[in-house]
Amino acid sequence: MAPSDPLPPLPPPVLVNIESTLGCNLECVMCGSHLSGVTRLRRSMAPALLARIEEEVLPGVVDLSLTVAGEPFMTPKLGDFVAVAERGGHWLQLNSNATLLKDSKLLRRILAQSGSIRFSVDGARPETYAAIRGQDALATVQANIAMAVRVRAELPPDQRPRLALCMVLMRRNVDELVEMVEMARDLGVDQLEVAHLTVLTPEMDGESLRHDPDRCDAMLRAARVRADQLGLRLVLPPPMQGRPVAPRPSARLRLALRELRQARPRRLGASAGGACTACAWPPGSCGPAGGCPVISCKAASSSPLAAMWPPAPCRGAPSPATCTSRASPRSGMARC
Ligand SMILES: C[S@@+](CC[C@H](N)C(=O)[O-])C[C@H]1O[C@@H](n2cnc3c(N)ncnc32)[C@H](O)[C@@H]1O
Ligand code: SF4
Repeated sequence: MAPSDPLPPLPPPVLVNIESTLGCNLECVMCGSHLSGVTRLRRSMAPALLARIEEEVLPGVVDLSLTVAGEPFMTPKLGDFVAVAERGGHWLQLNSNATLLKDSKLLRRILAQSGSIRFSVDGARPETYAAIRGQDALATVQANIAMAVRVRAELPPDQRPRLALCMVLMRRNVDELVEMVEMARDLGVDQLEVAHLTVLTPEMDGESLRHDPDRCDAMLRAARVRADQLGLRLVLPPPMQGRPVAPRPSARLRLALRELRQARPRRLGASAGGACTACAWPPGSCGPAGGCPVISCKAASSSPLAAMWPPAPCRGAPSPATCTSRASPRSGMARC
């Protein structure tokens, strides 16, 4: 394929990311949705659009993520979105701030239908959490996550989703990275996923660890050592300088053996960590024309929705697997 050739159409999606709500109860300092003011509008996906997506897009889809921006547990009639996943056999994915979780039938349905749920906790100390997330809610969030871990343990083994903490790394919380590793282990989640801050406004740049590369990389190394000691899976972003900080081979082997023992068919197939979080994508890279097959309310004007993925054959595919296999969520991300 010559570099000037237009890219062939995307294959139909295997992961669909819908924005069930834009509303959010927190005001995180780094969040583009909060800063733009849209979270305050509390807009949510209309039932008619959900019905169209179910009928026109979801057949054949493996993973259904309910989070772009906003807080999914603020979605009015969240149960209707869960019911769509239940009817279609799709595995849910959610990112939540964990402030609103309740031990309820709905939570049990969500857990049983989910491949993975990520809880955002950007500080290990109450004052850091409050300064970043705009509410003094660390104790509530920890109690809610512990409750979700408990409820998961009551589900049959093949209905237990992967649970993770996630953290956006900035100058004001980087010193708490080791404590975050310990918190993830104490809460009983499966892993801690750490991402660098995406600088969305000029004012945010002061928080970027690019200004403090040595401190950043020392903390990444210290967190890796602690995670290896505790046997926690830790997903780290690249260091500012040098090579990625990998787990020790013995720690990697121990983790792999443990995860193999716990593995269930559902969880083996679920999308792995590092899925897109809308705020972290560079502008323009999401959407049917970009690298990630995301449907948002913005795309709702396409009629029919499936026209976004015209069934033209792929040309010049370097590997047939990236074009034809719908077995793995990752293959759906690939361009031919
Ligand atoms: C927009 S939130 C929506 C889901 C939910 N409200 C939450 O906080 O998890 C999705 C993820 O994006 C992350 N995020 C927000 N702003 C970010 C930024 N500037 N850079 C990197 N990640 C960011 C959040 O911490 C969260 O993990
Ligand atoms: S990061 Fe999540 S919790 Fe924080 S303001 Fe944005 S949408 Fe809300």
